[in-house]
Amino acid sequence: MGATRIDGRALGRDIEDGLSERISSLAEGGVVPHLAVIIVGNDPASQIYVRNKQRSCQRIGMISSRIDMKPDTSQSDLISAVEKLNGDASVHGILVQSPLPPGIDELSVIEAIDPRKDVDGFHPVNLGRLVTGDKGGMTPCTPAGVMEIIRRAEVDLEGSRAVVLGRSRIVGMPLSILLAQRGADSTVTIAHSKTESLDEICREADILIAAVGKPEMVKSSWIKPGATVIDIGINRIKDDSKDGGTRLVGDVESGSESIAGIITPVPGGVGPMTIAMLMSNTVLAAERNV
Ligand code: GUN
Repeated sequence: MGATRIDGRALGRDIEDGLSERISSLAEGGVVPHLAVIIVGNDPASQIYVRNKQRSCQRIGMISSRIDMKPDTSQSDLISAVEKLNGDASVHGILVQSPLPPGIDELSVIEAIDPRKDVDGFHPVNLGRLVTGDKGGMTPCTPAGVMEIIRRAEVDLEGSRAVVLGRSRIVGMPLSILLAQRGADSTVTIAHSKTESLDEICREADILIAAVGKPEMVKSSWIKPGATVIDIGINRIKDDSKDGGTRLVGDVESGSESIAGIITPVPGGVGPMTIAMLMSNTVLAAERNV
């Protein structure tokens, strides 16, 4: 029996439809949610990500503006651009696309964003609110998208064992907290590059989250039959069937559909949900009248 494949694009569109209604209500009060994205340099993947975010804004009737800065932009000029947006009452959400060029300290830039406009949810104030269970912050978009996938797929987390592969500040760590928080009630193991017997640990997972950024690192033999498998990796690899071509793969070996109960594809799984959650955070910021 094959796994149920989650259609992240369809779920993302459904979330966008719900947001369109909230945007119409805001419009009655003369407010149009506005997302401002700063992009530094010419990283090709970032160009695609930012374009997808802007298209989503267009679909739901939100304003998106894009500030392109040169690759040799200094940290202080970047922080000045962020501060200008903090002070602009027409802007509700600010996102600084990563990666940033070498020499710029990403955390210092994130800390310059007004936490109320930090729609990525990366500011330490927002990550701190997540830990304290304060719902007044902004939840990071990928973890929020994963929780929404789990909720909509009606996966019962209570009493489940979740294994999160990857301990990044913006995905693995916050997602582990969301899975373990009261009301979700999963028992969470955070695994990482120094974890021993990774295959055995994964085999115990009812919910297996792969967020390591290593192509097909998680083997199908590591998956407990019937488990929910969420693949957060987006890895570009050479495609031998195309001359000089490439293709996207996740962190989970293809073929795992035959063992998992529920699985997210790459592309078209978690990625579109991350964007939908970014839109949702921006609408929320506008509703909070930041
Ligand atoms: N680069 C890749 N994904 C993201 C994201 O979700 N937010 C930001 N700011 N940069 C990214």
